[in-house]
Amino acid sequence: MSEVERQRTDEAAAVVRQRTELVPRVALVLGSGLSDLADEMTDAVVFEPAELPHLPRSTVEAHDGRLVLGRLGGVPSFVLRGRQHIYEGYSATEVVRPVRLARALGASVLVLTNAAGGIREDLAPGTLMLLEDHVNLTGQNPLTGPNSDALGPRFPDMSAPYDADLRARAHEAAAAEGFALAEGVYAAMPGPSYETRAEIRMLAAMGVDAVGMSTVHEAVAAVHGGVRVLAFSSITNRAAGLSDSPLSHEEVVETNRVTADRNRALLRRLMPLLDPGEG
Ligand code: HPA
Repeated sequence: MSEVERQRTDEAAAVVRQRTELVPRVALVLGSGLSDLADEMTDAVVFEPAELPHLPRSTVEAHDGRLVLGRLGGVPSFVLRGRQHIYEGYSATEVVRPVRLARALGASVLVLTNAAGGIREDLAPGTLMLLEDHVNLTGQNPLTGPNSDALGPRFPDMSAPYDADLRARAHEAAAAEGFALAEGVYAAMPGPSYETRAEIRMLAAMGVDAVGMSTVHEAVAAVHGGVRVLAFSSITNRAAGLSDSPLSHEEVVETNRVTADRNRALLRRLMPLLDPGEG
C-alpha cells in the first residue's frame, strides 16, 4: 500500500476511534443475504458510509454499506454490511480500503463471504464452500502501485492465502450445526455480466470449482498486511451453461434467502472459535 493509501486508512481510522474505543479482533464482510447478522451485535456503534472518509460507497441495492463495530458472539468485531466490487467502477485499491481500515483498528482475522456459481459437479445451489485457494482473473491487484514496506512486503507470498487452521474451525462449527462445508478453488471474474459457457469451460479446465466477482482483492490485501483470512462462497446457482436455464440475479438472491438462516447460524457459532484473543 502506498503512503497515500496508508494516510487514507489512518484518516478513516481516526473517525472511527472518535466514536468507539472498541478494538476489533475479527473483521467480517457480509455479502448479500447475510447483512442481518449485524443486527445481533451488542454494544454496536454504526457508521454510515458517508461518515467514513475515502471509503467507497456501495451501489448494489441489497447492500447499505454500513460499518458496525461491536461484539458478535461476544467477540469484538468489525462488521461490514456489504462490500464494493470492481464492476461498480471502483479500483481494486479502493475496494480493499475497508479491509485496511479493519487491520488498522486491530483486526487480525478476516472473514469474507460471497455468492458464487458452482462449476464442480458436487457444488449444487445451497452448498456452502470454503475457499481453499483462488484464481484472480480480474486483471487488477490491490497492491499495484508504490508499496509501503511498513505495511507489508513488495512481493507477498500467496501460496496459502486461506488459513488452514481457521478452515478447520469452520468445519467444526458446521458439523456442530449439522451440515458439511465443501472446499474448493474460487475464481474472480470482473463482471458484471455473468460468464459465457466457453468461459465456464475454460475455468473448469483451469481447475476452478466456483466463480464470482469479489473476494480475491480483499484476501490479497489482508495477506499482505499479515491478517489471516477465511472465506466462504454461498453457491447460489450452477455456473453458466451447466443448467438448463439462463442465469439471473433473482436466482442468486432467492438461493441466498433460502440458506440465510443456516449460514447466519454457522457464523454465529464460528465467531468465538476465530477469536485470536487480546493483543
Ligand atoms: N458467476 C459470477 N458471479 C456469481 C455467480 C456466477 O455464476 N453466481 C453468484 N455470483
